[in-house]
Amino acid sequence: MQNGSLPPAQKASGTASLYGGVTNRRVTVRDLAAAKTRGERWAMLTAYDALTAGVFDESGVPVLLVGDSMGNCHLGYDTTVPVTMDEIAILSAAVVRGTKRAMVVADLPFGSYQESPAQALRSAVRLMKESGVHAVKLEGGERSAPAIELLVQAGVPVMAHLGLTPQSVHALGGYPVQGRGDEASHQLLRDAKTVQAAGAFSVVLEAVPAELAAQVTKELHVPTVGIGAGVGCDAQVLVWTDMAGMTDGHVPRFVKQYANLRAELGRAAREYVDDVRAATFPAEEHSFH
Ligand code: KIV
Repeated sequence: MQNGSLPPAQKASGTASLYGGVTNRRVTVRDLAAAKTRGERWAMLTAYDALTAGVFDESGVPVLLVGDSMGNCHLGYDTTVPVTMDEIAILSAAVVRGTKRAMVVADLPFGSYQESPAQALRSAVRLMKESGVHAVKLEGGERSAPAIELLVQAGVPVMAHLGLTPQSVHALGGYPVQGRGDEASHQLLRDAKTVQAAGAFSVVLEAVPAELAAQVTKELHVPTVGIGAGVGCDAQVLVWTDMAGMTDGHVPRFVKQYANLRAELGRAAREYVDDVRAATFPAEEHSFH
């Protein structure tokens, strides 16, 4: 971020922002807490491999999520439910290796933490020791609070995930917007305060009404990260394949596509195939003698 585009408070004090300042070390939970205090918004993207993670890291994305959305976006599953610890561990290690500056958060996949807080700790410790991630994310409010508490006590930074929790797709009967109506909105606010009290350093709010997300954001001292939750959150997250136009088929309403990579990659592949068939590749400059 150029100084001209810094928020007024930082311009006045000359303090570097989350984007301009943390260039020679990883972004930490303290940087994110300070950003909330300053009122500075930030962006998170998913990443599933070293190559694209490196591009996002160089582009200044401060937090990368090795989401279990890898199930749908990368591994060819229909939902996030089948994703395993082994898959998360391997791809998380690649994302850490491909980056220098971003904080890397890994999802705890379905079945790796619901049994007990001790199971959650075992899974989180594996991802921190084996893959080198800097934090983990898990779904659920009050029901997940004991696990969050134990992880935080053990030194594991935890990002909570409320609203639409895709690991519960079969219980929810799809991917409906959450938190509509008095009872559901009060429960979501209670859940948010409970995971914050348990020690979560931030809270993802997925597919909830914008007004409710803005209220939660105002009432929490930890940053909220919205996806389909309006502009009132402290941060936003998108699945990178949605954001870049790689996704095939239905794209959720809350996604903005910043590129059309699927079309561009398809064009490149078709051109390469045509060149090979026509013997126009390899050309002289691609050949050894
Ligand atoms: O797995 C994922 O990518 C996520 C984000 C959508 C928040 O959980």
